[in-house]
Amino acid sequence: MLYSEKVMENFANPKNVGEIEDADGIGEVGNAKCGDIMKMYIKVDGDVITDVKFKTFGCGAAIATSSMATDMIKGATIDQALKLTNRAVVEALDGLPPAKIHCSVLAEQAIKSAISDYYTRQGIDPEPIVGKINDCEACHAH
Ligand code: FES
Repeated sequence: MLYSEKVMENFANPKNVGEIEDADGIGEVGNAKCGDIMKMYIKVDGDVITDVKFKTFGCGAAIATSSMATDMIKGATIDQALKLTNRAVVEALDGLPPAKIHCSVLAEQAIKSAISDYYTRQGIDPEPIVGKINDCEACHAH
């Protein structure tokens, strides 16, 4: 089978879809490879991400990885969220077909972008903390 059960589950019934009206940070990133875009909203209390939602014009794999990624960072600290790699998300989903790995980068980058926005709103330069938001290196490698 092409997609794991967990991918199918998260695609058919994605978690954390929507937007947060009074978000503390909003990120938006595009996937250079396919042109899909992803918007991510976070609520932050202290250094904990208390809520997260996403919206995407992305493919099924992007939806499944965002569902899983948002679930993994909900209740986590900003630091933990920044360390979440697309690889870890793909592993949590029991894998993705190689051609769809680039889709998982969209969620990772959207989280970083939302955290950057959060810091910018606090008057803090995000770049030393979050690093540069790239459209995915994996995509350029193909
Ligand atoms: Fe665009 Fe998957 S094909 S995110």
